[in-house]
Amino acid sequence: MAFSSTLTLAPLALVLLLLGSTSAQLSTNFYASSCPQVFSAVKPVVQAAIAKEQRMGASLLRLFFHDCFVQGCDGSILLDDTPTFMGEKTAVPNNNSVRGFDVVDNIKAAVEKVCPGVVSCADILAITSRDSVVILGGPNWDVKLGRRDSTTASFSGANNNIPPPNSSLSNLISKFAAQGLSTKDMVALSGGHTIGQARCLNFRAHIYNDTDIDSSFAKTRQMNCPSTSGSGDNNLAPLDLQTPTCFDNDYYKNLINKKGLLHSDQELFNGGSTDSQVMTYSNNPSTFNSDFVTGMINMGDITPLTGSSGQIRKNCRKVN
Ligand code: HEM
Ligand SMILES: *[C@@H]1O[C@H](CO)[C@@H](O)[C@H](O)[C@H]1NC(C)=O
Ligand SMILES: *[C@@H]1O[C@H](CO)[C@@H](O)[C@H](O)[C@H]1NC(C)=O
Ligand SMILES: *[C@@H]1O[C@H](CO)[C@@H](O)[C@H](O)[C@H]1NC(C)=O
Repeated sequence: MAFSSTLTLAPLALVLLLLGSTSAQLSTNFYASSCPQVFSAVKPVVQAAIAKEQRMGASLLRLFFHDCFVQGCDGSILLDDTPTFMGEKTAVPNNNSVRGFDVVDNIKAAVEKVCPGVVSCADILAITSRDSVVILGGPNWDVKLGRRDSTTASFSGANNNIPPPNSSLSNLISKFAAQGLSTKDMVALSGGHTIGQARCLNFRAHIYNDTDIDSSFAKTRQMNCPSTSGSGDNNLAPLDLQTPTCFDNDYYKNLINKKGLLHSDQELFNGGSTDSQVMTYSNNPSTFNSDFVTGMINMGDITPLTGSSGQIRKNCRKVN
């Protein structure tokens, strides 16, 4: 009986094994023989860009997030619009907001110089986001690689999948769940807002109309963000009021003090199910660092193109 059920299950086990291996094709040593110099080519260009403008580390990290949430981590966000092709760059979450494309071009040029035609733009975003976090004082990790580049992009995917700043906690949880990411990953990855800047139009309603905000913090932010829609929309404020160019756990300390800049930030600590995780990270930087790394690896695993799917773009801005 035991013997015959083993025989019946054997083909099923084989199928499961094969399915498992297709989602595990990314590896940290993917370029070990084809481009061992990839890391040493990328890092100095990231370093120089951040030395020139500290905010750039934040902008590069965000590019990876916005890439991975739209048809997987496939470099789709890097494709320029053409008269016959609509990319993701002008979708609502990206338009006049995502930046760093010139830096990505410089990184790609440095990589093409040492290993032409080998390293994907999607992998460049993964390495670049890790390097940015490390350079700004955050945790280090081994990046999984082997992604290939898309020949398509999705304007509607960018509009629908990337959560907006007026999201409720349940919206945030469901947008991350739709990508296969847990609530725990969502709270840890939101710590990316320990660096970088946001535009007035994205936090106006929070600083004028929400009640879950420290009133003196709200007043300070109102000084450079007029209440009238359309006026001062692009004025910037730091997502972490303490140390916006340092990757640390201050973001969570701010939330506990009701000093989250975005409505969506403060939703993580507003009497709901994620309060305890925010509390843990605010007291425990090493727990935050290790959960952030886990979140970045999980996010980097979102439906990659591997094997012979997609292509290795020569120019990250256009399909070969
Ligand atoms: C949880 C849901 C999230 C929401 C609702 C959200 C929303 C936003 C918004 C509205 C901005 C400001 C954009 C602007 O005003 O132009 C922003 C900036 C930023 N986001 Fe997020 N985000 C989320 C998750 C993430 C994740 C997972 C990461 C990375 C791990 C991330 C990294 C960043 C960074 C670094 C910036 C600053 C970029 C810069 O200064 O150029 N965000 N985010
Ligand atoms: C993107 O922003 C530009 C400049 O503000 C604007 O003219 C354009 O209509 C926006 N594009 C979309 C698709 O909303
Ligand atoms: C957020 O704002 C957009 C655009 O104004 C609106 O369509 C949407 O319903 C809002 N979402 C939530 C969760 O409030
Ligand atoms: C605040 O809420 C009021 C009432 O809903 C609305 O008229 C106003 O436009 C809102 N202000 C901002 C800055 O969102």
